[in-house]
Amino acid sequence: MKFFLDTADLDEIKEAASWGALAGVTTNPTLYSRIGGKLDDFHNHIARICEIVDGPVSAESVAMTRDEIVRDGRELAAIAPNVVVKIPTMVEGLAACRTLADEGIRVNMTLCFTVPQAILAARAGARYISPFVGRFDDISEDGLSQLENVVTAINNYDYSENTVNHEQVEIIAASIRSANHVTQAALMGADIATVPFNVLKKMIQHPLTDRGLESFLKDWEKVANA
Ligand code: E4P
Repeated sequence: MKFFLDTADLDEIKEAASWGALAGVTTNPTLYSRIGGKLDDFHNHIARICEIVDGPVSAESVAMTRDEIVRDGRELAAIAPNVVVKIPTMVEGLAACRTLADEGIRVNMTLCFTVPQAILAARAGARYISPFVGRFDDISEDGLSQLENVVTAINNYDYSENTVNHEQVEIIAASIRSANHVTQAALMGADIATVPFNVLKKMIQHPLTDRGLESFLKDWEKVANA
């Protein structure tokens, strides 16, 4: 499993990148607004993220028609070679995905909740598909089993004939709220988890690690003073 950071915050991205385990970044309009992002600085901001991270950086189109999404997608993809155009899973989004994939532009289909949505996204040439886990939990449904269904259904077939350079479609477990979401997503074989920084911090923590470290340091002090 690979990890992406789900944020538009440059300090969080720099910090997570310094840990040595970060493979990419996903942003969305809410995350950009949360850092006080301005419309006319959006492309520059994505460029700044791409300077920090070599891996895929998802930048979302908020256009609602296929032609506008394609126009947006071309502009976003021109920012840096590692930009992935994030497009909502809807009819206009599918059509735009097909056009962009045919032009060699990688697409991450977002706001995906069901198996049929995911299959259509894969057939339309999506390089990444992002099923949302936490938002199902928010409405008292089981987001993890929905994710598992998508992982199984996508892995039952080979969709690479539809993608840019025939790369394998990868599932990004999105809307992740906890380290346990990450554990379960990894066990079911999701390719990537995109996690908020607070979840990433929790993923490295365990009280037994802290306790073990404390006793190693204490015992080493004895060695040093012997
Ligand atoms: C996916 O790429 C989205 O940015 C994200 O995971 C949404 O998560 P949320 O439901 O916590 O907003």
